[in-house]
Amino acid sequence: MLSPKEFIDDAITKIKEEIQDEKAVIALSGGVDSSVCSVLVGEAIGKNLTAIFVNHGLLRKGEAEQVINTFEDRLNFIYIDASEEFLEALNGVTDPEEKRKIIGKKFIDVFEREASKIEAKYLVQGTIAPDWIETKGKIKSHHNIALPSGMVLEVVEPIRELYKDEVREIGSELGLPDAIIHRQPFPGPGLAVRVIGDLTRDKIKVCQKADAIVREEVEKSGFNKELWQYFAALTDTQVTGVKGDERDFGYLVVVRMVSSFDAMTAYVPEVPWELIRTISRRITSEISEVTHVSLSISDKPPSTIEFA
Ligand code: XMP
Repeated sequence: MLSPKEFIDDAITKIKEEIQDEKAVIALSGGVDSSVCSVLVGEAIGKNLTAIFVNHGLLRKGEAEQVINTFEDRLNFIYIDASEEFLEALNGVTDPEEKRKIIGKKFIDVFEREASKIEAKYLVQGTIAPDWIETKGKIKSHHNIALPSGMVLEVVEPIRELYKDEVREIGSELGLPDAIIHRQPFPGPGLAVRVIGDLTRDKIKVCQKADAIVREEVEKSGFNKELWQYFAALTDTQVTGVKGDERDFGYLVVVRMVSSFDAMTAYVPEVPWELIRTISRRITSEISEVTHVSLSISDKPPSTIEFA
């Protein structure tokens, strides 16, 4: 069993041998796996790695800024704000699986467009052990990936043998901030699976604001240590409330907090009442479009963790 420092030294030697003087690209999301991979390969081959961070317009409040601040000085880093393009492609789409497909395809388009400017030979991926063990080893260790334009990249997976807790230890040794190392899982399609119905800029913004309040209060209370994920989802339901002296018609926000080991099953723990009250009061008073907050109390199964 290697120590984190030994793993890093060993990985850097192997990456240098594999990539040599060629160029490599990675899609950096700010999640712990792609962040650790980017920094590890960056340490090994320096500027020959380009880390591409695509903002699809469905990130959480402050997330783009956090990723940019963490990596822009540390890596050869490219930030692409493609939110217009993604939201245009998603205009009027309400079906969750359709949203996922559109986002996945668009992501490849945008990434490929940038990667083709670099003339990279290698694609670095933050695959970890559960990713390929769950597919019963169907993802081979040495493989190429052909992008739709015909561009072929050789895949390099430096943390393929690691489990999540080991990735976190390596991240810590590499000096990544806690906010990245202990970040809760966030789905690739982002808020598209937490905003029910069509994805308008206004609805996304309401969801971002509510989610920021949930994260802030849960983290302040320390209850996040008990949770796998905690977030706000925005329903497509409008409900009546009173604001001032007037009756109002606004959104229903659902707060979801789940404990889990691996996301295959999840349960809703007993949530401190004060925390829920504070979150609810803040959401309805700080976000004028919201009239009602509810708490999801459904385990997985039968519910899923996400709302769409
Ligand atoms: P569900 O909602 O299926 O989620 O109980 C299980 C875990 O997977 C995440 N999730 C996704 N991650 N793309 C992703 O990268 C997706 O489309 C997606 N859908 C769900 C979810 O956040 C939870 O951790």
